[in-house]
Amino acid sequence: MRGTLVVLGAFLLASLGISSAKPDFTQEKAGSADSKMTPEDAAKKNPVASTPEGLAEVRKLYGYNCAMCHGKTGDGKGDLAADMKLELRDWRDANTLEKVTDGELFWIISNGKGKMPGEGDRTKERVRWNFVNLVRSFAKKDAADKPKTESPQG
Ligand code: HEC
Repeated sequence: MRGTLVVLGAFLLASLGISSAKPDFTQEKAGSADSKMTPEDAAKKNPVASTPEGLAEVRKLYGYNCAMCHGKTGDGKGDLAADMKLELRDWRDANTLEKVTDGELFWIISNGKGKMPGEGDRTKERVRWNFVNLVRSFAKKDAADKPKTESPQG
């Protein structure tokens, strides 16, 4: 049995040797645009508390970098989104991002997704977590600090 494996191995090595004359399989993908979100990324907890100061800081950046797509109020109706015919989610509706974790939002803001360019290292990690806080804040205009009242289905 072991003998067969050795022979097989030698054969495989030999054929690899031949094909490696054309080393196109070593080609690396340009950029890492399609890096994947891991379960660890999605499970990350937001280490940055949502504070009025933190939100004010990123609200300015949001105006420059995000509002043209996601809209000033998070409604997804920015000018660029309209030009690009993007159908963006309405963050003012609390249901929209209910099932999306902070880690997932952070990952998308950092790496981008589909037509959305990521922030990458353009903004610090702390600032990107504050973007997460800001995105969440669009849904709770009036209910800011009210405790959640659990209502029965329907
Ligand atoms: C060019 C338009 C564009 C810009 C600019 C943009 N986004 Fe997006 N964003 C998108 C699109 C399109 C999606 C949906 C991607 C998908 O699901 O394929 C998205 C998705 C998201 C999501 C995931 C939740 C959701 O609604 O799908 C977050 C969070 C987000 N964007 C935050 C931001 C922040 C913060 C900025 C600015 C730093 C930003 N975006 C800038 C187009 C944009």
